[in-house]
Amino acid sequence: MAPTIPDGVGWTALVVSAQRAAESRRPDALFQDPLAEALVERVGEDAIAAGPGPDGGTDQRGTLARVMGDFLPVRTCFFDRVVTEHPTPQVVILAAGLDGRAYRLERPAGTVIYEVDVPEVLAFRDAVADDLTPTVEHRPVAIDLREDWPEALLAAGFDPTVPTTWLVEGLLIYLPADAADLLLDRLTGLSAPGSAIGVEYADRDPASAMTGLAGTDDPGAQLFADLVEAGPRDSPARWLGSRGWTVEESTVREQAGLVGRPVPAIMDPELGGMDAWLARARR
Ligand SMILES: C[S@@+](CC[C@H](N)C(=O)[O-])C[C@H]1O[C@@H](n2cnc3c(N)ncnc32)[C@H](O)[C@@H]1O
Repeated sequence: MAPTIPDGVGWTALVVSAQRAAESRRPDALFQDPLAEALVERVGEDAIAAGPGPDGGTDQRGTLARVMGDFLPVRTCFFDRVVTEHPTPQVVILAAGLDGRAYRLERPAGTVIYEVDVPEVLAFRDAVADDLTPTVEHRPVAIDLREDWPEALLAAGFDPTVPTTWLVEGLLIYLPADAADLLLDRLTGLSAPGSAIGVEYADRDPASAMTGLAGTDDPGAQLFADLVEAGPRDSPARWLGSRGWTVEESTVREQAGLVGRPVPAIMDPELGGMDAWLARARR
């Protein structure tokens, strides 16, 4: 029996994972994601698109494909590089959802990946992944990021005295500015010298960018608009720099060019979208 689909923002983890499955099937695929493929096999693309609940939600596929295009594979490749270019003993994936990196990336022996997300989403992920063999040790940290997640991370074995690579992928747009600041303060306090962070970052309200491009009467755009928040107030350089991180900013346009994919409309100001970055930083 297929596991129960998580509700609300949790569901978006399935939507983006299904896009990684679609990428894995392309003849020019930039990566293979076995967890994403297992998800689609177990649950089915139509059920993922329809969403949770007995009557399903709103099928976002048309809107996402039209507005976001090839963004997900571009983002995946960027965060993969953050992981592979920082061989720290610990990786923490905040709002991991159905992140497949523990099933597809090689890491130095002894590396531990901590995957933080709400219990419902991690339980769903475990049910989908039960036949897969991880390439690296990974530990779930089942907690809402509005709660005391550093304590939960420490309880799972995280060591704040050794360097960590942090991934903040597909998360900041779901947080109000104050929550984003608190998240960064907590993360910085747990980062030993030699740590690195990758963040996906939008400079203004992604909801209005989405409805602006797709139309306010588009149900997929409206659903997305209802889920997102403002995110941090500053550019990545100022936001991360203010906490002592040395920042390397790049635009989504630049990252799309690196992997030979077209720039997605929602993340290109020249196409009516917002300024958007994929940034990394070290300390
Ligand atoms: C778009 S998905 C991204 C998942 C994953 N990072 C990826 O890129 O595939 C957003 C994720 O954020 C998680 N999330 C949002 N708010 C959260 C919170 N307050 N605490 C924990 N997880 C949260 C959701 O459960 C969901 O898995």
